Amino acid sequence: MKLKLFGVSLLAVTTLATFGIAQAEPLGLPPVPIPADNPQTPEKIKLGDKLFHDERFSTTGEVSCATCHEREKAFTDTPLSVSVGINNLTGTRNAPTVINSAYLHSQFWDGREPDLEGQSGQPFINPVEMGLENYQPILDIVRTDPEYQQQFKTVFGKSGEEISIEEVKKAIASFERTIISGDSPFDRYLYGGDKSAMDESAIRGLEVFVGQGRCVSCHTISQTHALFTDNRFHNLGVSFDLIDKDVKAMADEFSRAKKKGLNVDIAVLGNKNISELGRFAVTDNYQDMGSFRTPTLRNVAVTSPYMHDGSQDSLDEVIEFYSNGGRINEDDPINPFQSGGIRPLNLSDQQKDDLLAFMQALTSPEYQE
Ligand code: HEC
Ligand code: HEC
Repeated sequence: MKLKLFGVSLLAVTTLATFGIAQAEPLGLPPVPIPADNPQTPEKIKLGDKLFHDERFSTTGEVSCATCHEREKAFTDTPLSVSVGINNLTGTRNAPTVINSAYLHSQFWDGREPDLEGQSGQPFINPVEMGLENYQPILDIVRTDPEYQQQFKTVFGKSGEEISIEEVKKAIASFERTIISGDSPFDRYLYGGDKSAMDESAIRGLEVFVGQGRCVSCHTISQTHALFTDNRFHNLGVSFDLIDKDVKAMADEFSRAKKKGLNVDIAVLGNKNISELGRFAVTDNYQDMGSFRTPTLRNVAVTSPYMHDGSQDSLDEVIEFYSNGGRINEDDPINPFQSGGIRPLNLSDQQKDDLLAFMQALTSPEYQE
């Protein structure tokens, strides 16, 4: 199949909000969407950076956002399969990268938070992450620490009791909107007009990706940019067999508990079975059973292991899984909720190698090992 994707080579320079911060989008990415009620300012971004790295916002004083989203690890906690929070407690899910999360239409594998502001409020008060009972300890620190006092005054014009968790969340989200990466060999090949940026194998891999593999139907590539996600939720079959047997009884019980006030964030990260309900835990809709948002594939070669629960160790394993139609082994049963977009691909060894080479060409220069 011939590639029908022709990019335009241009370096978009957009002005972020009204504050005149010109940020050049890296090659292969669109302008970063900035919410009207949280414009970017250099001071706010700096404050968010500091909050993101502050370990005092956890019960042990040892865990910050950066513990699980480290810059040196492409903003993940590779090689952990599921994240480790306070007191070595483990959750149920693999930490996605924060890179380019600013483009997502929802946050978390199941999309349970609508935006970065909403997302950033959860880890502080999740018992297996930062473990606080409520936001009070954070507010006590930012209202009294002299450097924070000055920064909140400058950025939000607020001090003392006027400072709430909302300002903390806004500053963190602003910082995250600067964690943007493109300009990979793939971007230079497709959007930069540099035909030598990818080797022959990666070029063939791109053809498999958009052709026989049908990967592009979910991990999208457009004419001018590539986010590698359709922002939709699909049940691929990853680990769903863990709850397959009594899924309906379990799901109904969960929905009832939710009506009575069960905290979804705590439930999905605290209980492996509930985690596997995927998007259903957010919508209570059977069509969303066991489905997770398509993750980006940018920098995927440096963020193993893979999938929402980190259950696949290598990209080779992932490719094998897709080739088998969403199964670890060819003769494993298919779960009844599996997405229609997942079917056996019967890829040749050459095609598998090429797909791997293609995914390795999605690493941005700053995250090359
Ligand atoms: C103990 C490890 C841990 C800590 C601490 C942590 N995270 Fe995460 N983060 C995760 C995991 C695991 C997920 C996926 C959870 C899920 O989808 O249910 C996640 C998801 C996210 C996402 C969503 C990305 C996407 O693709 O949907 C963002 C953004 C994020 N974290 C930012 C933060 C911020 C900001 C903080 C600090 C306030 C933080 N994280 C603290 C482990 C952690
Ligand atoms: C029907 C939509 C769909 C198709 C088609 C699809 N993917 Fe995915 N992909 C997803 C979803 C959803 C996940 C996360 C699933 C989960 O964790 O349960 C995912 C996960 C991945 C991951 C793991 C990423 C990470 O950070 O954990 C890789 C790698 C990947 N896909 C590559 C591919 C390749 C290569 C193809 C083509 C052979 C492909 N995908 C086809 C939707 C799709």
